[in-house]
Order: sequence, then structure tokens, then C-alpha cells
Amino acid sequence: MYEIGTKVRFSLFGRSHGPCVGGILEGVPAGFPVDEDMMECEMALRKPTGKIGTPRREADKVMIAQGVVDGKATGQPILMIIENGNTDGSKYLKFYDTPRPGHADLPALLRFPDHDLRGSGQFSGRLTAAIVAAGSIAKQMLLTNGIRIDAFTRSIGEVIDGTSHSADEARGSREFATRACTSRMDVLMRDHIESAGAAHDSVGGTVECIITGLPIGFGGIWFEALDAELARAMFGIPACKGIEFGDGFELAMMRGSESNDGYRMCDGRITTKSNHMGGIVGGMCDGAPVVFRVVFKPTPSIGIEQETINLKDGTDDTVSVEGRHDPCIVPRAVAVVEAMAALTIADQIARGYRWN
Ligand SMILES: Cc1cc2nc3c(=O)[nH]c(=O)nc-3n(C[C@H](O)[C@H](O)[C@H](O)COP(=O)(O)O)c2cc1C
Repeated sequence: MYEIGTKVRFSLFGRSHGPCVGGILEGVPAGFPVDEDMMECEMALRKPTGKIGTPRREADKVMIAQGVVDGKATGQPILMIIENGNTDGSKYLKFYDTPRPGHADLPALLRFPDHDLRGSGQFSGRLTAAIVAAGSIAKQMLLTNGIRIDAFTRSIGEVIDGTSHSADEARGSREFATRACTSRMDVLMRDHIESAGAAHDSVGGTVECIITGLPIGFGGIWFEALDAELARAMFGIPACKGIEFGDGFELAMMRGSESNDGYRMCDGRITTKSNHMGGIVGGMCDGAPVVFRVVFKPTPSIGIEQETINLKDGTDDTVSVEGRHDPCIVPRAVAVVEAMAALTIADQIARGYRWN
């Protein structure tokens, strides 16, 4: 099992082509109402759609095997199980000899001699289904504290949405398959993904996440800093290759006079004039929404022939991937980013980082 969190603790298990994937969520207080309809809506947002997602279609029905009775948490660990139905391992056999570049095959085969490569085993994005299920409960816990987490697709390949978006607009992305904020961007992003897929190639992109409702001072310091823990959580998502808060890497080109977010009083409340820092200073919230972007690399499995080695013969070789794959991970990753952010914040609240 793979674990994250201390008080609100999430453990992940399963393999792509095993009987199921699932998760255990600890730290949900007894009596907390668990809304399974909301969970189903969140699960639907991770499902692949049309030609922009993998042809592998799964029911993704979450079975809550224990920890919830009559719609209320018992206070015991919540066990969630999601069956794997639509499996076909035949296309993966050749990767035992010729591992796919960009995927976990080579290091996994050398490290785990009995590694099950079908569907990429425990390295499959399939396991993120359980993250979204657990994240939906964490989101419900946060909503009772007035905290919301809304993400959307900021870019797909060279198609970049250059407009600043509010949390409400980000929430509106749920209407669009690409998780873009507008129908125009949705069309452009979809075309970009479909043309990469038609060329047997793939594309990456960025997910932007906005967290609202956190009070000034919320967070930890040093290694428990809010940005440090969010970054760790995001890097746990397969294919994440970077994260930036606020203006991120552009801050390197600014002066302090440009990058500092000045404080202002607004209707008796402390606010910031701008949000170059992404709402976090010193590991704690500064009153602005927490804003960060996560980079997802292009899907490693592609139909185009690539260079690899032959582990059996010890020679150079080539490999191309015929299995079922997402030509772009980003639209499906939006729900996963929201879920990991929710689990992180819920844990920080449970650890006592709530209000100053
Ligand atoms: C929601 C989601 C779906 C994914 N789908 C695929 C896929 O269809 N094909 C693939 O090669 N990788 C897919 N990935 C990415 C791989 O799991 C990932 O690249 C691989 O495990 C190697 O890990 P790394 O990229 O973090 O180094 C997906 C990731 C996520 C989050």
C-alpha cells in the first residue's frame, strides 16, 4: 500500500489488471455524512471521453466495503473498492523484453522481478480512481469548513488559455470534456489532443488549481509548509513533472517591487493587491486564494516507434505501443489534482493547522 497523510491518512492499493483498485481513508470523524452521489459525480469527471481519452471504459462504481453505515462515517477506516472490469493484458507482453521509454517498465522490471506489466501494473493511472473516491470525501469535509477546491485545464501542448480565471469559472470546466474553462478553449484543446492521437502520438499540458476559503495563517512551516505538502501530493500523481505556485518560474525574472503582493484593508478584512505568490508565504496562507499549476508530461505510451533495448538479447531494439491509452492525461488528471489537494488540506486541518 502507498500512504499519504497523518491524521487524515489515505492508503492506495491495486493494479491495473488485478481484480480491483482501492483505497482506505482514515480520520473521517464518526457521524460525518458521506454523500455517495457527490462521489459518483467526481468519479465521472475522471472517466475518459470520446477520442481524447483511452478506449478502456470502466464502470468505476465505488463499493464502500466498510467505515460507512447508513450514509454516515463510523469513525473506522473507510475501505473503498473499485473493480477492474475492462482488462486486456495481451498488448503488454512484449514490454517484458522491450520496455517502453517514458513509462515505469524498465526500472520496475529490474527492481521487482515478478512485476506484472499488464496495464502497467501498480504504475497505472487506473489507481487514480481510488484517489478521486477518497478525495471526494475529503472535499465534503472541507466544504463544511467553507473551503473549496476547483481545478481546470490551463494548457494542452501549445494551446494555452492565457486568461486569468476565478474559482467559479474553474468549476464551470466540469461542463467540458477537456476541463477547459470556455467552449472556445475546449474546442481548441480537443482538436490538439485528437490530432496528436491520430498521429499515434501524445501531448501533455498543465492543470491549474484554485483553493478558496482558507484563513490567513493556515498551513505549516518548514517541511510541513502548505506548498511543500501540496507539491509532494502532486508529485505522487503519475506523469506529474512540475508544480509552480502563483507566478512560479516567472518570479525568477521579476524584481521584489513587482513580485511582492501588497496588503490592503477591504471592508475590514486583510487582502492582497495581487497574487504573485499563489496565496502562500512562509508555508502559510496570506489571504489570497491558493493558486498552483501542475505540469503533466505527454502520455508515454505512443504508437510511434521508439528506441529501446531488448532485455532478453542485450541489444538495441525498437518498440511501439498498440494498447489502449490516453493520448493526453491532462483532462482526466484535473479531478485527481483536486482530490490530492483536498486530502492534503483535510490532513493539515486534522493536524491542527486550522485557524490562527
Ligand atoms: C489519469 C491518468 C491516466 C494515465 N493514463 C496513461 C495511459 O493511458 N498510458 C500511459 O502510458 N500512461 C498513462 N498515465 C501515466 C503513467 O501512469 C505514468 O507516466 C507512469 O506511471 C510513469 O510515471 P511518471 O510519469 O510519473 O514517471 C496516466 C496517468 C494518469 C494520472
